[in-house]
Amino acid sequence: KTYNVGYLIGSLATESINRKLAHALFKLAPEQLRFKEISYAELPPYSYDFDADYPEVGRNFKKAIESSDALLIVTPEYNRSIPGALKNAIDWASRPWGTNSFKHIPSGVIGTSPGAIGTAVGQQHLRSILGFLNSPQMNSPEAYIQFKDGFLNEAGEIADAGTAKFLKGYLEEFHQFIARVLTVLPRGA
Ligand code: FNR
Repeated sequence: KTYNVGYLIGSLATESINRKLAHALFKLAPEQLRFKEISYAELPPYSYDFDADYPEVGRNFKKAIESSDALLIVTPEYNRSIPGALKNAIDWASRPWGTNSFKHIPSGVIGTSPGAIGTAVGQQHLRSILGFLNSPQMNSPEAYIQFKDGFLNEAGEIADAGTAKFLKGYLEEFHQFIARVLTVLPRGA
C-alpha cells in the first residue's frame, strides 16, 4: 500500500537547507511513501476577515492538506520558534472555524539548522500547534539535524553513513506510524 505524503518546507529561501534535507530524505524513504510538496508561498497574511469568502489560494491549500494521507513538515527554527510564513500557512489551513484541515491527518516533524541543537526548540513549538490541531504526530524518533559543511555530498545525499542510517530509520518508523494511524482513522472516512 502506498501513502501520499504532503510535505511543507518551513523556509521560503531559495537555498533553504531544509529543502535540501527534504530531498536527501526522499532518497532514503521506503518506496511506499510518495512525497509531494504543498506550497504556501502565495498565501497572504491570514485574517478572519477572509473566512466569509475564503479565497481560492486558501481553499486550494486546505484541499492539498486534506487530500494527503500524511504530512511531513521539514522546518528551520527562526528565533526559537517556527518561521512566520509556516505559522501563517498553518493558520490558513486551520480555518474557517470548524473546518480545520489538519484534523486526524498523521504528521511528522523534522528540521535542520547550522546550530548545535538543530531546530529542537522550534520543533517543540510546532508539536504544540499540531497537537492543538488534532493531528496525530509521530512522537519518536525525534530528529534534530545539525547542518554542517559536508553534511550532503555532491549528489545531495546524506554524506555520513551513521546519519543516513538514523534518518532511514526515522522514515521507516514514519511509514509504520502512518499505516497504524490510518488503520484507526482511515482517510476519506
Ligand atoms: C535563524 N537561524 C536560527 N537558527 C537556529 O538554530 N535557531 C534560531 O532560533 C534561529 N533563528 C533565526 C532567525 C531568522 C529570522 C533567520 C533568518 C535565521 C539560522 C537558521 O538556522 C539558518 O538561516 C538556516 O539556513 C535556516 O534554514 P533554511 O531557511 O535555510 O531552510
